Amino acid sequence: MEPTARTAPAAVIVAIDGPSGTGKSSTSKAVAAKLGLSYLDTGAQYRAITWWMVTNGIDIEDPQAIAVASAKPVIVSGTDPHAPTITVDGVDVAGPIRTQEVTSNVSAVSAVPEVRTRITELQRSIAAQAEGGIVVEGRDIGTTVLPDADLKVFLTASPEARAARRSGELKGKDAADLAATKDALVRRDAADSGRKVSPLAKASDAVEVDTTTLTLDQVIDRVVTLVEDRRGAIEKTGRRVGHE
Ligand code: DC
Repeated sequence: MEPTARTAPAAVIVAIDGPSGTGKSSTSKAVAAKLGLSYLDTGAQYRAITWWMVTNGIDIEDPQAIAVASAKPVIVSGTDPHAPTITVDGVDVAGPIRTQEVTSNVSAVSAVPEVRTRITELQRSIAAQAEGGIVVEGRDIGTTVLPDADLKVFLTASPEARAARRSGELKGKDAADLAATKDALVRRDAADSGRKVSPLAKASDAVEVDTTTLTLDQVIDRVVTLVEDRRGAIEKTGRRVGHE
């Protein structure tokens, strides 16, 4: 009897978008790890370029100065979901990109069209090189960066739930900081959603998952099922399905 040919699962490209505090990073990383896919945190790339601007004394209030400088830093993302990395000009910036200074300046830097063009090109080339498939998380992945993604997921949650999760992540903060965290988060979302070039938005063909009342494990399970279903459909039909 002929041995059954075992083929590798179809490579899938998964776009996961949504505002901060929806569990996007934890979900994306876990889904990629469970399914053997690569993982890209695009927010980390915008934070990395912002860190470079701040470190090199570029005036964040001056979009022209940011545009001119945007081609300079060399940003490299490691896409292993078990140990994602990010370097700028060879320097490990995984820690520095999470500081308050970077967080409060990242919306302004990421709104500059030249910055978006540069980072979008980088993201597309990383996705194209991920042979086994990739989970890419961000704000504009399904709408702009990878409009032909096999699966698009848009995570949401109430502002209260998102602020509570974010406060939990920030060490040394107490309950009194919750309101301030919520205000900052809502402000950043408004800036990200309101900018002219590829704002935070749900693609018309994205599956929306409201995580307000779900545990992280429940969100992960739901997204894993969505990816497996899509992967199954691709394997069955031999072509990409579900695109507009
Ligand atoms: O996911 P995060 O909070 O680390 O993202 C940081 C910022 O980067 C966020 O305020 C908006 C910006 N960003 C973006 O403009 N486009 C993306 N695809 C990802 C992040």
